[in-house]
Amino acid sequence: MPETATLPLPVARSVADLRRTVQAWRAAGLRIGFVPTMGALHAGHLSLVEMAGARADRVVVSIFVNPTQFGPNEDFTKYPRQESSDAARLAAFGVDLLYAPQVEEMYPAGASTVVSVGKVTDRLEGVYRPGHFDGVATVVAKLLNQVQPHVAVFGEKDYQQLLVVRRLVADLDIDTDIVPGPTVREADGLAMSSRNAYLSDDDRAVAASLPSVLNFVATQLRTGAEAGPLLEAGRNRLLKAGFAEVQYLDLADATTLAPIEKADRPARLLVAARLGNTRLIDNVAV
Ligand code: PAJ
Repeated sequence: MPETATLPLPVARSVADLRRTVQAWRAAGLRIGFVPTMGALHAGHLSLVEMAGARADRVVVSIFVNPTQFGPNEDFTKYPRQESSDAARLAAFGVDLLYAPQVEEMYPAGASTVVSVGKVTDRLEGVYRPGHFDGVATVVAKLLNQVQPHVAVFGEKDYQQLLVVRRLVADLDIDTDIVPGPTVREADGLAMSSRNAYLSDDDRAVAASLPSVLNFVATQLRTGAEAGPLLEAGRNRLLKAGFAEVQYLDLADATTLAPIEKADRPARLLVAARLGNTRLIDNVAV
């Protein structure tokens, strides 16, 4: 059975524990909503929890810092882990079950299947984080099989990830509705992210230029202007504002992520830029 001793809500640590609870809910005819996370929860995550709650009778949130989606030089070991404060926030939001497995439970010795989504992973994050989306697709496929939710909510903050999840659910015939959640932002526009905690005060001030440049460029693109010169100007503004590197600032088709020259169809403007060792990503609809 899920343990409750040390946390303010029931927690399942094993697939078997999780299944016992969700199978009982399904047998009782209850609709299950799910929000997968890596923890260090902020208001963005909690907005997805609320959306799941509005669409289901029971809500499961997972916290699992998934090693397979981090590159060898990325922040897996220093990624913030704060389970008890996360659990308190989830309990306050009425979450019914926290699923928090250890790495060995998710990837037992001998595990060797990788889920790899093609095409939509070719560009943007796929270029700068090789292997990242294989890790995401594999863990999301496993989590959806484990929880078997009717509905799962994913943030538009990670827009390419949302498209990868939609593709994988369609291609593997997973019977879960994928619902997108809008990006929740700080007062100055910076998209909330667990990684914002890495920023020094100076870098945090610079970071606010990311959404302002995105909005500046998006506004012009909406008038039908050519993307090339605007994207170039946007990259220069970010560098001038203090970013160390702009990995991409690209206009893409909103469903395929193919690069486009004009916002003459549903489009997305996406950015990744580095401040010191911290990589920030953001995107807006155009
Ligand atoms: P994590 O970065 O913890 O994000 C969990 C969910 O919260 C994702 O769907 C993400 O898009 C969403 N999210 C993050 N910041 C947000 C914001 N400011 N506003 C709204 N939603 C936001 O994304 C992952 O974890 C992992 O890749 C995961 C899907 C859990 C697989 O390991």
